[in-house]
Amino acid sequence: MAQLKLSTQAWTSQTIFILAAIGSAVGLGNLWKFPYITGENGGGAFVIVYLLCILLIGLPILIAEITLGRAGKASPPQAIANIVRETGSSKLWVLLGFNAVMGGLLILTFYSVIAGWGIAYFVDSLFGVFSGMNADQAQQHFDDFVASPSGLTFWHSVVMLLTILIVVKGVRSGIERAINIMMPGLLIILLVLLGYATTTGALGQSFEFLFKPNFSALTTDSVLIALGHAFFTLSLGFGTMMVYGSYMPKDYSIVRASLWIVAADTIIALIAGLVIFSIVFGNGLEAGSGPGLLFQTLPIAFGQMTGGWFFGTLFFGMVVFAALSSAISMIEPAISWLEQNWGFTRRKAAWTLGLFSWTLGLGSVLSFNLWKNVHFLQDKTFFGTMDFLTSNVMLPLGGMFTALFVGWVWTQQQRDGESGMPPKWSNLYGVLVKFVAPVLVFVVFVESVT
Ligand code: TRP
Repeated sequence: MAQLKLSTQAWTSQTIFILAAIGSAVGLGNLWKFPYITGENGGGAFVIVYLLCILLIGLPILIAEITLGRAGKASPPQAIANIVRETGSSKLWVLLGFNAVMGGLLILTFYSVIAGWGIAYFVDSLFGVFSGMNADQAQQHFDDFVASPSGLTFWHSVVMLLTILIVVKGVRSGIERAINIMMPGLLIILLVLLGYATTTGALGQSFEFLFKPNFSALTTDSVLIALGHAFFTLSLGFGTMMVYGSYMPKDYSIVRASLWIVAADTIIALIAGLVIFSIVFGNGLEAGSGPGLLFQTLPIAFGQMTGGWFFGTLFFGMVVFAALSSAISMIEPAISWLEQNWGFTRRKAAWTLGLFSWTLGLGSVLSFNLWKNVHFLQDKTFFGTMDFLTSNVMLPLGGMFTALFVGWVWTQQQRDGESGMPPKWSNLYGVLVKFVAPVLVFVVFVESVT
């Protein structure tokens, strides 16, 4: 990595950069995870903690990550290497870039499996499979579905293939074109579903559930979950925002773009929560049903309600858009690295990395059936182990070192000059990236691995 290598790709406009970053941020995290962890952690009180985490830690680290990418103007390891050269700091920082490249790929291995469930449920809904289903049948349907290794492998392959086919075309003809279809699609569907939610008679109840704080249900664990989720939902810690930032022209304001990304991600998560709980409550079902909320509880509602076929299909279509626009952002850091540092063509990089993630993903497929009782880390399945290693170990470490790098290696001028930070926010931002974010992340990290 001796010589300076720079990325040659660039977004067509600031808007498409923001849309692509929102596409990365809005994913299964918003539609699948946020509603059920809110359900499990007592609703409103959890949402308040989550919003604080987003503002105090998520936003500053998001700005830091995009800034690093644009300043280094290359794939995560190379971008850091470029900045290290300029600032004369330790070469060890490049490890941060490798953590990013590996982490994104590892998350993709199991994200693709769950995204596959989304496509399968979209197709099921389209063909009326859920019509008239009662609770037991919906449960049985889900159990049968995950019990089949070949079925899950098939849908996992579909997701991986779509991801490869998009990224192989490059930033402009691949990612941008996909984003231009998926993001407006997602937004329109969400609004239609919100319109439907107002007719369920349960919108008020969902509103109360999401926004009325019940602090007695909040535990230390809830705080850990909220912080971890703030990272995950903003796609932080794994070079996604760094690589998207590296394609960003110098005249765009990173601070303004980041505010848009955070606002959109948060609002979409809250609206999705309102929609999901309105459907759940409107059909007399329970909110606290954990990970099964999306794939076990919702189909019961779609099976019973009028227009269930239409709204169910739209809903799972939205899940597919959200998941795919995130999946492409997980593989992109590694692709740009193979391209820039190993002389791979984009095509070869996309297929090699896709095949790697697909193969490792088979372990997650098996975790729901043949390997259900095979434990890897402590009592965790392969899927659980991957999720733990990425979400609870690599991701917080990546986020923490990103904040430390931007906070301590760069001077205030370098940091603010690149990100377009307004002077009145500059000191506060410095305190957040130097102290608040790293310390809080560290505490959470130690708590979650011990
Ligand atoms: N933010 C996405 C979601 O909410 C997931 C995601 C995409 C991600 N890229 C990432 C998470 C990079 C961590 C790191 O579903």
